[in-house]
Amino acid sequence: MSAAPPHPGVLDDRYGRVARDLRVSLTDKCNLRCSYCMPAEGLPWLAGPDLLTDDEIVRLVGVAVRRLGVTEVRFTGGEPLIRPGLTRIVAAVAALEPRPRISLTTNGIGLDRVAPALAAAGLDRVNVSLDTLDPDRFARLTRRPRLPDVLAGLAGALAAGLAPVKVNSVLMRGINDDEAPALLRFALAHGYELRFIEQMPLDAQHGWDRAAMVTADEILTALGDAFALVPDPAHRGAAPAETWLVDGGPARVGVIASVTRPFCGDCDRTRLTADGQIRNCLFATEESDLRGALRGGADDAELARRWQQATRGKRAGHGIDDPTFLRPARPMSAIGG
Ligand code: 5AD
Ligand code: SF4
Repeated sequence: MSAAPPHPGVLDDRYGRVARDLRVSLTDKCNLRCSYCMPAEGLPWLAGPDLLTDDEIVRLVGVAVRRLGVTEVRFTGGEPLIRPGLTRIVAAVAALEPRPRISLTTNGIGLDRVAPALAAAGLDRVNVSLDTLDPDRFARLTRRPRLPDVLAGLAGALAAGLAPVKVNSVLMRGINDDEAPALLRFALAHGYELRFIEQMPLDAQHGWDRAAMVTADEILTALGDAFALVPDPAHRGAAPAETWLVDGGPARVGVIASVTRPFCGDCDRTRLTADGQIRNCLFATEESDLRGALRGGADDAELARRWQQATRGKRAGHGIDDPTFLRPARPMSAIGG
């Protein structure tokens, strides 16, 4: 590892990348069981005392925002809406100076009821996961018959002004890979911004198969048969989605090709798990324990120093397409998306 020390006030790594986008997992639990994420019976959940408390989360996000240059905070899970303190946490993070932008990645269940309160607390925008518009398929894919709740959640988010409302879709071969045009038509009709995500090897059951994965090229071919797509001239920056204007715009569609077109060189993310571990990459095989330091009485300067140190260990890329690729020990639901 290079001996060059981190720059003060930022989370920079040895490759010159600076992490400004913090993902915070609020729980590893979920009320769905998407097959690319969890087995039907669920997972051994984190133990209550191991979870950061609401105050601990706000403290650590505060360190990231005030001392480490983080400007974007996204709450994820598991399913973040099942965390009782969510609205309070959002309000406390919105009160930080400088105020970060705040977003949420959710499966949408119950979002229609809480969207107004979340917006009032300071939530700026949401991403809702939705892989199919067919109720039977939805029930098979997520093992719960909750499609109407998700659709209501999406509508509620838009009504509450949590714009742009983004929809995340994962296509799986032989399951929903015929739905790309229908999902885009649905998103256009409602004013949601759709992004397809290539399926990644993050399921707890280790069922991911590179050969079976629906690739960005396939998705674009399917969309191109039904719509006129032109590369979006807006600069991509650190955003993982490559975007296209649909039928002349202004509507857009995105593809996050984590596997076939990795964007690790532009990555600006850092992650905090629900049990207080820092992960410098979704695919990291190591974590750094902040909870122990926090509960052991570390002050903010020490917590910041540890976070910087954890960032120095960030690898250049995830290497999913490399034969030596090692899966992370935790599944997606315990890392946060
Ligand atoms: N591959 C790709 N996307 C995934 N998600 C969950 N698991 C996977 C996976 N294995 C998506 C969810 C959600 C976001 C957090 O990541 O559908 O939209
Ligand atoms: Fe829940 Fe998201 Fe995992 Fe589906 S992908 S089971 S909604 S955490």
